[in-house]
Amino acid sequence: MRIAILASEGAPYAKSGGLGDVMEALPSALARIEGNEVILILPYYHKIKHDPKWNVEYIGDFQVGVGWRKQYAGIMKLKGRNDGVQVYFIDSEYYFGGRDTTIYGHGDDSERYAFFSKACLDAMAIMDWIPDVIQCNDWQTALVPTYLKVMYHHLYPHTRCMYTIHNIEYQGWANGGFFDDVLGLPWEWRGCLDMNGSVNMMKAAIETADLVTTVSETYARELMYPYYAHGLDGIISNASWKLTGITNGIDVGTFNPETDAALPAHYNAQTFEIGKAECKAALQKEVGLPVKPDVPLCVMVTRLAGHKGLDLLCYIARRLLWEENVQLLILGTGEPHYENFFRDLANEYPDKVAAKITFNLGLAARIYAGGDIYLMPSKSEPCGLSQMNAMRYGTVPVVHATGGLRDTVPPADENGEGGLGFTFQSYNGDDFMAAVKRALNLYNHNREGFKALQRRDMEQDFSWDKPAERYMALFRQMLTW
Ligand code: GLC
Repeated sequence: MRIAILASEGAPYAKSGGLGDVMEALPSALARIEGNEVILILPYYHKIKHDPKWNVEYIGDFQVGVGWRKQYAGIMKLKGRNDGVQVYFIDSEYYFGGRDTTIYGHGDDSERYAFFSKACLDAMAIMDWIPDVIQCNDWQTALVPTYLKVMYHHLYPHTRCMYTIHNIEYQGWANGGFFDDVLGLPWEWRGCLDMNGSVNMMKAAIETADLVTTVSETYARELMYPYYAHGLDGIISNASWKLTGITNGIDVGTFNPETDAALPAHYNAQTFEIGKAECKAALQKEVGLPVKPDVPLCVMVTRLAGHKGLDLLCYIARRLLWEENVQLLILGTGEPHYENFFRDLANEYPDKVAAKITFNLGLAARIYAGGDIYLMPSKSEPCGLSQMNAMRYGTVPVVHATGGLRDTVPPADENGEGGLGFTFQSYNGDDFMAAVKRALNLYNHNREGFKALQRRDMEQDFSWDKPAERYMALFRQMLTW
């Protein structure tokens, strides 16, 4: 099967979050399946263009219609990737190349990705590489299914399109004028793109894609409710017949405590007691906490954004530090009020709290390895990947039972049995505190039980093999239509 994957980010070239990780591992997992030909198309961002690591070949260029204007687009083919995935970059100095190094956050983001979505469809036609299936992701490529149906059908008469929602919070809103100024779609399609007088690209994708998926089973159900759907609950409910949740995997090749080059010691599910103890001591030293093997180290690697549940952590933090002999370590950047809160807390409790307000992948890996308990109280979480990274490195998660967290962390009892971590049901600081305390009790009073839980976490299969098969089943289903 010929599969084209279109996205606004993909590691290791450009990544701002979980989407970038998924776009690294999913194409690769699909390419491992016999008979598949997989391409991945990404924007040729400044950072990629100017990184000598990436060796590219110019394939061709063309003009993309953006409203009444035309914009140059170049096709660059990446050389040297050896996992069977062919990566192409869409070159546009105007939209991607000549900007600063941030991926998103430019005033014309809607136009940039409208251009990209269209350019991908033009590029494949020009290369005469007509896919059986297009898989596109989040608001940035949400126009693809609509363009495919309305303006490119003659070039792709048999191509089917799957649209995947990684986070419904970012929908690709633009003002009503965007329809005429940028999209260049026939007037009859205005209603499909319109939501209360504005343009909503995600809404159009949900309506026009052949199938819609999201990144966990629970999130697929949650999206029917206003609390989670950010205004799209009605649209989702109407499309529920074509919506499936497929829980992400993680890249178990990259995230492997036996080989991870960032770690000071290596281990697996059999040898973790020694390996993790070494990693913990080194980590405590690295972040400036007292090196104490028996003080439970609670860790968090996160964007400091509201929906990650930081309000709950802020609410319980001082009480936790008064009542328990714990260490708390946070790594991440984001909203200034959270950055300041954790900086202040670390100043106030230098022997108990460390706050690293930065983005550092190596340190992230050392935290997954050196921590004992991983905190993830997200208010909503479409899938979440770091709880799986943590478990793979033997760090026991404490999570809010929502979205993918609910699907990947079944609750253990107070003896650490019957599940993979500790969970709480309602989004409430005291319930979160109670779950953290269950984890701490197990660590403090039943270390063997805690170790058995760590081992079970490490033995889980979080690879992409099974999710990739589920994508394939849906691709096959679309092709029979
Ligand atoms: C988004 C979601 C996150 C998910 C990731 C990959 O970043 O917020 O929950 O794991 O996409 O699908």
